[in-house]
Amino acid sequence: MALRQIREVGDELLRKRSREVEVVDDKIRELLQDMYETMKAAKDGVGLAAPQIGVLKRLIVIDLSEEGDKIYKLVNPVIVKSKGEQVCREGCLSVPGLLGDVTRPKEVWVEALDEFGKKIKIKASDMLAVVLSHEIDHLDGILFIDKATEIFDDKEEEE
Ligand code: CO
Repeated sequence: MALRQIREVGDELLRKRSREVEVVDDKIRELLQDMYETMKAAKDGVGLAAPQIGVLKRLIVIDLSEEGDKIYKLVNPVIVKSKGEQVCREGCLSVPGLLGDVTRPKEVWVEALDEFGKKIKIKASDMLAVVLSHEIDHLDGILFIDKATEIFDDKEEEE
């Protein structure tokens, strides 16, 4: 297990499309665990995608457990259906210092593999739908600042 360095905006790797994972093995599980620990070590980290630590594989981790949700470690996640709209003020560990208002689906249905390669389906709403959408965007090289209608300095936000 290891903490990984988080890539920041301006790094070209963040703009690339990540590849599907073909076999969910110990290496993938270790990578997911490193991602999880790296996310938890960062302030305000609720989600992380593999390209953020420089790995172009379709892997994401999410932990909203303070809000009563559970930990997700997902392989090859795909949004198969979405419904409604919500506007959320988002930040990103790869875009330090900025927040933005982004329109996301109110509900999403996601299909993925879990860390043991088992197929799972998730129906998510509200904050979990936002985070899933944000993290899956990372796998296609999309950052929230591409979609934000307004961007704020996060220091202004605190005043
Ligand atoms: Co992000």
